[in-house]
Amino acid sequence: MTRMSSVCFGRQMRAATMPELALGRLDELKEYDCREFSIGAGDWPFRGFVVRKGNQVFAYENVCRHVGHPLNLTPDKFLSRDGQSIVCASHGALYEIDSGVCFAGPCQGKALQKVACEIRDGVIYVTARA
Ligand code: FES
Repeated sequence: MTRMSSVCFGRQMRAATMPELALGRLDELKEYDCREFSIGAGDWPFRGFVVRKGNQVFAYENVCRHVGHPLNLTPDKFLSRDGQSIVCASHGALYEIDSGVCFAGPCQGKALQKVACEIRDGVIYVTARA
């Protein structure tokens, strides 16, 4: 099996009860593209997103640390206009792409919840509670 040199991070342990979702190939995402996903069914599936930066993919739960709103209003749109930060569409909190830490806005100092993510054979996989 060939592994890409990409790095995903988050919870490194994958419990048997946590479903894994294939999001598609890394090369289908352009630099700074984002992709939403949900895991589980019903009214409250787990909702998250990934951001590609270089050959790395960062994955987070789609919940702002301010008051818990989803970060985006438009599908797959999570970044600021300059593309350098994750932005919350509700009140403008800005988060670092690499760490998920809020550096400006009403929840400064808090961090997005990381999601376990890895790339195997060029495919992005995320794992989260359903
Ligand atoms: S809910 Fe995100 S900044 Fe207020």
